[in-house]
Amino acid sequence: MSSTTALGQQAIATLKGNDYGDYIVPTQNLYPFQWNWDSAVHALALHAIGDEKRAWLELETLLASVWDNGLLPHIIFHKPSPTYFPGPDEWQTDRTPRTSAISQPPLVCYAALHIYQNATDKALALTKLRQLYPALLAHTRWWYAARFDERTNLIFTVHPWETGRDNNPVYDAPLKAVPAVAREYERRDISIVDTAERPHKFEYDRYMYLVDFYKRTNFDTATIARDCPYKVCDAGLSAILARATDAVLQIADIVSADRPADLAANLERLKKGFATLWSDELQIYCGYDLIADQLIKVPAAHNFFALFGKIPTDTFAAKMDAEINRWLAMTKFGVAGVAPDSPLYEPRRYCRGPVWPIVNWLIATGLSEYGFTATADKLKQSSLTLTTQKGFAEYYDPHDGKPCGGTTFSWTAALALHWLKLPFAE
Ligand code: GLC
Repeated sequence: MSSTTALGQQAIATLKGNDYGDYIVPTQNLYPFQWNWDSAVHALALHAIGDEKRAWLELETLLASVWDNGLLPHIIFHKPSPTYFPGPDEWQTDRTPRTSAISQPPLVCYAALHIYQNATDKALALTKLRQLYPALLAHTRWWYAARFDERTNLIFTVHPWETGRDNNPVYDAPLKAVPAVAREYERRDISIVDTAERPHKFEYDRYMYLVDFYKRTNFDTATIARDCPYKVCDAGLSAILARATDAVLQIADIVSADRPADLAANLERLKKGFATLWSDELQIYCGYDLIADQLIKVPAAHNFFALFGKIPTDTFAAKMDAEINRWLAMTKFGVAGVAPDSPLYEPRRYCRGPVWPIVNWLIATGLSEYGFTATADKLKQSSLTLTTQKGFAEYYDPHDGKPCGGTTFSWTAALALHWLKLPFAE
């Protein structure tokens, strides 16, 4: 058996082991529920292995939890589990199944379009796309309705978890303005994963303050937007939203729905806002702290997602390609979570430096679409080498490839399957 076939088979076994029938959990124990953008990646992999029905089901299960106002929660708590904190009793949302009350990057829109465009069963794909379109549209509109800052044309997040890059140093300064929660709570993650590879108590105290704050507002969108002590524009999330908006506009045409002109206009505004995030010093787009009203000059890998969002001109894309290659020269495996020569870089601590397959895949997809296939291929090859040699970990040390965080991780396995199918290299 060739090593790619063996890798593919192990990846399929990993996904199956985490499959609960109509959704796949990221990993047992550490993340025992359905996660929003993970599920989009799972669906891409299910499609890549030819199980199109199951791919659509993954998206349907996720989108069934869109709130009436359009919010698509970051976690859907389908079944109880004692191994995760903060679980449904902490969030206290009045939903069946129960959910969290914040969102995550809307990768689901890209996944739905991609699966449709590459489907073997075109009739099924069109039926499913028609069925899912209202939820995709409602969710994309929700971001602009709930999280758009009129003054700056920037989309904001109200919790670091909404970006999917939890304790990345981009969020350090804005989090300092958030009070620490005053009550006791018990984390479960650090009894499963080495404390040195997880966020600090400092961050969790503020993460939980924010969770309590949403409850106090009764999850009211306008109150949250007005009073939240944390409002951060994240370049990574905004880029994925730009791509989602573009996808929904294309889906509207495919399903012959009226063109959502509001989304087309909002995408233009988002792009205008995005242009103000460029830093010449860092050769990258940055985050923006709306409370402190300042650019967050932190060289985070997810800031390169602008390429996936089709944001930069060719000139700016070329600058990013050069910068990515500068980072790559400092590590052995892929784009580190933070520039390896930054004082903020911690190669084994969660989102503060390790290589994450999702990050590398989003960057590579964007690079390949801009024509930077050599760099994209480097990322693909190093990701495949990493998973072949080290298994499907949550994240890895960029220098020696040490697997870190959760084990037998679904989206790592899913991306290996997806990489094996990507057109830009063999
Ligand atoms: C962590 C990651 C987030 C991911 C989740 C489940 O919270 O930061 O991006 O969705 O784990 O894998």
